[in-house]
Amino acid sequence: MLVLGIETSCDETAAAVVAGDKRVLADEVLSQQAEHRPFGGIVPEVAARSHLDHLDRLIVRALERAGASWDALAAVAATGGPGLIGGVMVGVTTAKAIASVCRIPFVAVNHLEGHALSARLVADVEFPYLLLLVSGGHCQLLIVEGVGRYARLGTTVDDAAGEACDKAAKLLGLGYPGGPAIERAARSGDTRRFNLPRPMLGKPGCDFSFSGLKTALARAVANIAPPGPQDVADMAAAFQDRVAAALAERTRNAIAAYRNRWPKGETLVIAGGVAANAEIRARIGRLASEHGMRLVAPPPRLCTDNAAMIAWAGIERLKLGLTDPLDFAPRPRWPLDPHA
Ligand code: KG4
Ligand code: ZN
Repeated sequence: MLVLGIETSCDETAAAVVAGDKRVLADEVLSQQAEHRPFGGIVPEVAARSHLDHLDRLIVRALERAGASWDALAAVAATGGPGLIGGVMVGVTTAKAIASVCRIPFVAVNHLEGHALSARLVADVEFPYLLLLVSGGHCQLLIVEGVGRYARLGTTVDDAAGEACDKAAKLLGLGYPGGPAIERAARSGDTRRFNLPRPMLGKPGCDFSFSGLKTALARAVANIAPPGPQDVADMAAAFQDRVAAALAERTRNAIAAYRNRWPKGETLVIAGGVAANAEIRARIGRLASEHGMRLVAPPPRLCTDNAAMIAWAGIERLKLGLTDPLDFAPRPRWPLDPHA
């Protein structure tokens, strides 16, 4: 069973071909970073136009790389939201056209479900598992009970972790995208030189907050303006350390909630763009082993936005007979947990 996946919800145009037995036959990702860099962040209109310019060619290339013809496709899956609506419309419209011409089912995938199920593409992971989903737009702890079945334990009350990294990088003059830049700068930094706070330390529950940390960083930058390269490295190191500490703290509380509900639960999954960060992966890995849990962290390429995870989520849904009509309307907002 071959499924074509399409991802256009943010600043990556992506197309992939994945087989039902988990072989990723093609995984094409075209980053728009260079187009957005002059603006210091993502411009939705620029993103939508760029998806439109590149998606067709990328899909053809993915099919070529996979050695697959149009006839070989069992279905086409596209991100149906949440995300920047112009981009989502480009991907969904393209997928619907392919579905109607090839007479195959169309699957509208929730982008967050794509991240959530990516662990099952790379490892044998059974439901229910605990998920730390950390990306540019989302920062959540969820119990993944099945395809389409999520119980949210916590979310951010202000910024997502990736968004916080992007803002911090801007403050430090490290440019866009911020997460990878912070990680690079932090390598030669000292985490202890700057006294940045640990967000939500000791508070019960699983919600996140990063705005206080961001404000503290802004103050530290202003105090020594203009910061030299070592100052920037030390501040990046402190910032990354406090974000990692906050993620680990909240995940510790979530493990208790997960075990409460599922006493035999043994798997922790980390996914989303921020999960590409080696320090954060290591910190969450230590937490998992402290609790006798297995950590499943997809490789960095599958953590940041890609279409293989969308094709795979499409396969998971298809196996359950969950397809979507061609009048599916793209959704700018689409929470995983219906009670959210
Ligand atoms: O999942 P993703 O590619 O897109 C969204 O769905 O949001 O996540 C992008 C976010 C950005 O905020 C980016 O700065 C962050 O993930 N990110 C990182 C790293 N790589 C990407 N944050 C920290 N360290 C990284 N290495
Ligand atoms: Zn994402």
